[in-house]
Amino acid sequence: MNARDSKLLRHKAFIGGEWVEAARGGSFEVLDPATGLAIAHVADCSAEDAERAIEAAQASFVVWRATLARERARLLRRWHELIMEHKDDLGDLLAREQGKPLAEARAEIVYGAAFVEWFAEEARRVYGDLIDAPAPGREILVMKQPVGVVAAITPWNFPNAMITRKIAPALAAGCAAIVKPAEETPLSALALGALAQEAGFPRGLVNILPTTRAAEVGRVLTSHPLVRKVSFTGSTEVGRTIMRQSAETIKSLSLELGGNAPFIVFDDADLDAVVAGAVASKYRNSGQTCVCANRFYVQAGIYEAFAEKLAAAVRALKVGAAFEPGTQQGPLITPEAVAKVESLVNDAVDKGAKLRLGGARHARGGNFFEPTVLADVPADARLLTEEIFGPVAALVRFETETEVIGLANASEAGLAAYFYTKDLARAFRVARAIEAGIVGVNQAVISTVEAPFGGVKQSGLGREGARHGIDEYLEVKAVHIGGL
Ligand code: SIN
Repeated sequence: MNARDSKLLRHKAFIGGEWVEAARGGSFEVLDPATGLAIAHVADCSAEDAERAIEAAQASFVVWRATLARERARLLRRWHELIMEHKDDLGDLLAREQGKPLAEARAEIVYGAAFVEWFAEEARRVYGDLIDAPAPGREILVMKQPVGVVAAITPWNFPNAMITRKIAPALAAGCAAIVKPAEETPLSALALGALAQEAGFPRGLVNILPTTRAAEVGRVLTSHPLVRKVSFTGSTEVGRTIMRQSAETIKSLSLELGGNAPFIVFDDADLDAVVAGAVASKYRNSGQTCVCANRFYVQAGIYEAFAEKLAAAVRALKVGAAFEPGTQQGPLITPEAVAKVESLVNDAVDKGAKLRLGGARHARGGNFFEPTVLADVPADARLLTEEIFGPVAALVRFETETEVIGLANASEAGLAAYFYTKDLARAFRVARAIEAGIVGVNQAVISTVEAPFGGVKQSGLGREGARHGIDEYLEVKAVHIGGL
């Protein structure tokens, strides 16, 4: 595979400021999800590499934590500039290994870079407190200090932005980082490492461990006493394992886990706006985001019109490989992902759901699945309780506001939720009542650096982005001064 700027295409692990082969030797294939063909081979790290990276990160942390916030901000700004200078190449690399349409891949680079810029700014805005003491001659100071070495375990659906959303605030706070990218998409992570090196961060501050041994490397990262924080984005099931493994050493955790977003359409919604929002929310990244609409609840009076218009809009989506002009829907990430989506659709149809569009593997073969719309999905369909992670809209009819709030909240997940209405009082009522960390009201695009991102219930712990994001990497220390 070629990259216009070959310095971005890295095949080795990045540990302690060096590009190194894996300790046990060996490499693994990175596949193009559109063709199933290998596009690169990268070093396959193991427990030994993770231990080396942790030691390198700790040594770097001791120096970095003492640097001025202004200096940390300067280096983050430089990293941001370099990412933006190389945004087209980074986007091409991302599209190649992840499969999303090129325009979406390039947009992800800009989205990812925004976290680096934002936290470069936030680095200088970490404030402590001075608190009135309970007795004369005393003062109480509150300091915020970096938590220490951070392990970032990141997913394949956003191979760039989920890394920057974690490690930019970590570095801004004064922490060092180890990134374990998803096995499917290590190239974007390594390219970010190359640009971090060029930006001039100290050796060992950022380490990148590509691996197929996720469980082995993950166990070291979640159990080593020098790792003080684990930030993970991925499935709720793996999140539970990470939490269990981190319990022994009581690590700080940020967990951005699975969602099951309800998308509610009230009778009074603007039909054109709601269909545009539904397509944006459901079919972005071919349905492979944690905040994609998963369950459409549509009020009886607008149900038929919405179902028809949505199916027409989805029929117009162009399915193709990332680099084919006009592509709007890429392949799913793996054959296993296709099999899972297929089984969810079959389960719903067997239980009585009506196919309005699609419903099968795409004629292109491989990892492609038809953009699908299913109406009258019954309550016992797995589509309504499991995260679909594919281009399938599942429609359910409802009658009243109270009923739909009950349906929306009847889930262990609570990441994103969306609803459309023109009634202002209802907008406030429903926004308060919905159990989710992020709510879109007449608004389907809710991922942006300015707003806190994260879930409630089993969708996770902590918030990323916004001014809140840096707090995840800071400890609060109370200093009591007496004898004054
Ligand atoms: C995710 O799927 O975890 C992140 C989605 C986003 O940032 O929009």
